Amino acid sequence: METISKTIFDATEIRGRKLANRLVVAPMTRVSATAAGVPTQEMTDYYEAFAAGGFGMIITEGTYTDALFSKTNHHQPGIANGEQMNGWKRVVTAVHRHHALIINQLMHGGALSERSEETIAPSAVQPIGLRSTDSSVPASAFPMPRAMEAEDFEHVKSGYVNAALLAYEAGFDGVELHAANGYLFDQFITPHTNLRTDEYGGDERNRLRFLMEVYQAVKTALPDGFIVGIRVSESKVNDLAYRWPGGADTARRIFEVLAEIDPDYVHIAAEGGRWERECRYPDGTSSNSIAKSILKSPVIANGGMHDVALAGTLLNSNAADLVSIGRAAIASPDWPKLMAAGEPVVPFFKELIKPSLTLSHTRQVREQCRESALC
Ligand SMILES: Cc1cc2nc3c(=O)[nH]c(=O)nc-3n(C[C@H](O)[C@H](O)[C@H](O)COP(=O)(O)O)c2cc1C
Repeated sequence: METISKTIFDATEIRGRKLANRLVVAPMTRVSATAAGVPTQEMTDYYEAFAAGGFGMIITEGTYTDALFSKTNHHQPGIANGEQMNGWKRVVTAVHRHHALIINQLMHGGALSERSEETIAPSAVQPIGLRSTDSSVPASAFPMPRAMEAEDFEHVKSGYVNAALLAYEAGFDGVELHAANGYLFDQFITPHTNLRTDEYGGDERNRLRFLMEVYQAVKTALPDGFIVGIRVSESKVNDLAYRWPGGADTARRIFEVLAEIDPDYVHIAAEGGRWERECRYPDGTSSNSIAKSILKSPVIANGGMHDVALAGTLLNSNAADLVSIGRAAIASPDWPKLMAAGEPVVPFFKELIKPSLTLSHTRQVREQCRESALC
């Protein structure tokens, strides 16, 4: 019997919501909101370009969920009040004109907040590395976080529920709980940042308990059909080399526990951009293939997925249902259309994500590149 191979361009769906293809824009922090965390017209244009460029689904940059400790970066957008929600509504309306889905990534920085003097985390463990994504401020050590107490758990959870309700009001098709890259939920998942001896520390089920409680609170508060995905990773922004201690065994355990809540999708990040290095195990399995073998949820693969051959291999070896593209989408917001037409794409170059570069300036740099013989 002839088997038909899957391609990145196939129409697909997530929990009954239709997507034009399997191509997703990965969440990318762009520090371009107002100082009050309100999305701007520039951000509307930025996100609309991905939808017009043919991506089936767009996941926004990490967006903070409450006014207390969740904010991670200066000029990061929030979704914690009506003004921020209205800013996002303009983004969502523009994206929906092109029939793409748009998901708001909900993010709490925990101990990795770049700005607050007081930070919270599962345990009082000082993060490795230095903080500052802003070249105007000298890099410095992260402060020692305060170990979360009962009222912090309640506050973080109600922040996520409130943020998801505001995302729904803004018209988003869903939210993604950011449990990857070293931020708050990942600090719970990671043994060396979670030294708790209560029901939130210890084995994988305990370390995932808070994420799962928040997931369930959000699902209960939102109507059916509103997508709630979860993003996890091994590597961290402040420790790209970090891997789950038991490799494939830990991956198996993590996805077995997550299967109990049956997330609407699971997105596996490779922050460093190298799937092979960040998601593959010596026995030939990968976090993606293990997730697919355990979960019913669609799995999104990430990390260099603009390599179409790699993306095709994962789709056809039951290791992914969708792929998310980060840096290559910044370089070519119309990447899907260009690829489908066999036209050249603008290659990614580092200047495109210089924190001091505004989104409009990024567009100019990209256009100059496109017009020059370089691209
Ligand atoms: C400028 C930039 C900002 C990022 N911000 C986020 C973020 O807000 N949330 C997140 O989960 N990952 C973030 N990431 C990681 C990307 O989602 C993705 O995992 C990474 O770029 C690897 O994918 P790629 O090889 O397609 O670029 C960011 C990456 C870049 C380059």
